[in-house]
Amino acid sequence: ITSRSTNITRVEHGITNEARAFRNGHKGGVLWFTGLSGAGKSTLAVALEKKLFEKGYNVFVLDGDNVRHGLNANLSFSPEDRAENIRRVGEVSALFARAGMIAITSFISPYRSDRDRARAAAEADFHEIYVKADVATCEARDPKGLYKKARAGEIKDFTGISAPYEEPESAELTVDTAITPIDEAVEKLVNYVEMKFKV
Ligand code: PPS
Repeated sequence: ITSRSTNITRVEHGITNEARAFRNGHKGGVLWFTGLSGAGKSTLAVALEKKLFEKGYNVFVLDGDNVRHGLNANLSFSPEDRAENIRRVGEVSALFARAGMIAITSFISPYRSDRDRARAAAEADFHEIYVKADVATCEARDPKGLYKKARAGEIKDFTGISAPYEEPESAELTVDTAITPIDEAVEKLVNYVEMKFKV
C-alpha cells in the first residue's frame, strides 16, 4: 500500500534483529493461522501460546474476535473490510516479529491475496499454518451456532456458506483438525517452532 503521508523518512533501529534474538533465545516471527470458522484456529492458537510461553518463548496471540472489538472495531465482513482487517493485522504482527516476539495470528483470512500481503509485511519471518477442516466438519461442530444462523440467512457473507474461502497453496504447515487430536496438533506446532525459531 502506498502511504498517503508525504515528507516522511524511515528511522533506522539501533538494535539488530540478531541482538534481540540472542537475548530472547529465539527469533521473532509470525505464525499465521488461517482456516474456516470452527476449524480450531483459536483453540490451537491459545494452546500453542501456553506451551511456548512455558518453554520460555515470548509469544502473543492476536485473535480475530478480539481484534475486531478494538483496533478493527470499525470493520465489517465485506471483502474490502476483511482485506483491511488482514492488512492491519499483517502490519501489527510484523511489528511484533520485528520486536523479537512470536505472534500467533488467528484470523479466517479467506483471501489468498490478503494473506500474501501479510507475508510480504513480515518478510522471511512469516509462516502460514493452514488449520484445515472442511465446511461439513465445522458446521457439525458449530461451537458458536453461527453456521446455523448463516444457513437461516441471519448472517450474510458467512465464510464457507455465502462467502468464499481460498485454501492456501503454499502453507509452511497444515494441521488437519478433522483427523488430528488437539494435543497432537499442538505438539506438531511446538516442534515446528523449536526447529525454526531457536537460536
Ligand atoms: S476475517 O475473514 O479474517 O476478516 O475474519 P476474522 O477477523 O477472523 O473474524 C472471524 C470471526 O468473526 C465471527 N463472524 C464471522 N466469520 C465469518 N463470516 C462472517 N460473516 C462472520 N460474522 C461473524 C466468527 O465468530 C469468526 O470467528 P472464528 O474464530 O473464526 O470462528
